[in-house]
Amino acid sequence: MTPSSRRITLPDLASAKQNRRPLTMVTAYDWPTGRLVDAAGIDCVLVGDSVAMVVAGRSSTIPATLEQMIYHGEIVARAAVRALVVVDLPFPFQHLGVRTAIEACARLLKETGCQAIKLEGTAGQADVIRGIVAAGIPVMGHVGLRPQAVHQLGGYRMQRDIEQLTADAKAAADAGAFAVVLECIPQQVAAAITRSLKVPTIGIGAGPECDGQVLVLHDLVGLSLDHVPKFVRAYADTKTSIADALLRWRQDVIERKFPGEMETLG
Ligand code: KIV
Repeated sequence: MTPSSRRITLPDLASAKQNRRPLTMVTAYDWPTGRLVDAAGIDCVLVGDSVAMVVAGRSSTIPATLEQMIYHGEIVARAAVRALVVVDLPFPFQHLGVRTAIEACARLLKETGCQAIKLEGTAGQADVIRGIVAAGIPVMGHVGLRPQAVHQLGGYRMQRDIEQLTADAKAAADAGAFAVVLECIPQQVAAAITRSLKVPTIGIGAGPECDGQVLVLHDLVGLSLDHVPKFVRAYADTKTSIADALLRWRQDVIERKFPGEMETLG
């Protein structure tokens, strides 16, 4: 299917669910990856707070700041001309009350030019989602494994409390979220939640029956240097390509084979 030339909208995502067209979302944090993800016809580009781990080498997403999300979000929102650009609300703004959360989301929307924000939360954050949506800011929910709560959850592990998962996803949708990310939950639970919600679910480590799938770009292209979760499929081995190119270039310089005639200007 050829990607459409206009920007993906919230109604497009809703009709994808109705028409059972699988949705795609991939992270991007900078100009080249934003452009590549966009050009590939991916529906949503996520400027995830995973930037703290993937790009900055931190051990969790907790250190990501609002300023950093604005910095990366602005670059990606300029790079992506047709995908819906979603920027993560960093910890702990969704826990600081409706007004503070709206202020932070408004900054993300105004200063990046993105189309929506994503926030991690349980049913306890439903009022915050409702307030942000009432302010005219589209919200994507994120339930299940919430990486910002990694210490409370005891690690990056599968979430199995069916009642809580179901209540959290329903609360996000009822509060006005236009889609809900389901991270690391059993596939039968994800399937049941997907059937019960009117809005699309986007899964990561949640099996094939979600309305869409999301992956971290660096995992997808084999560029992640640390642990890669079991739910990832790498479609390229970029890490090896880069390491090999660097070794070859270094050797050429040492052997005075670079620059050659072709790369010499005069
Ligand atoms: O920050 C992120 O990249 C995410 C995805 C893993 C869904 O939240």
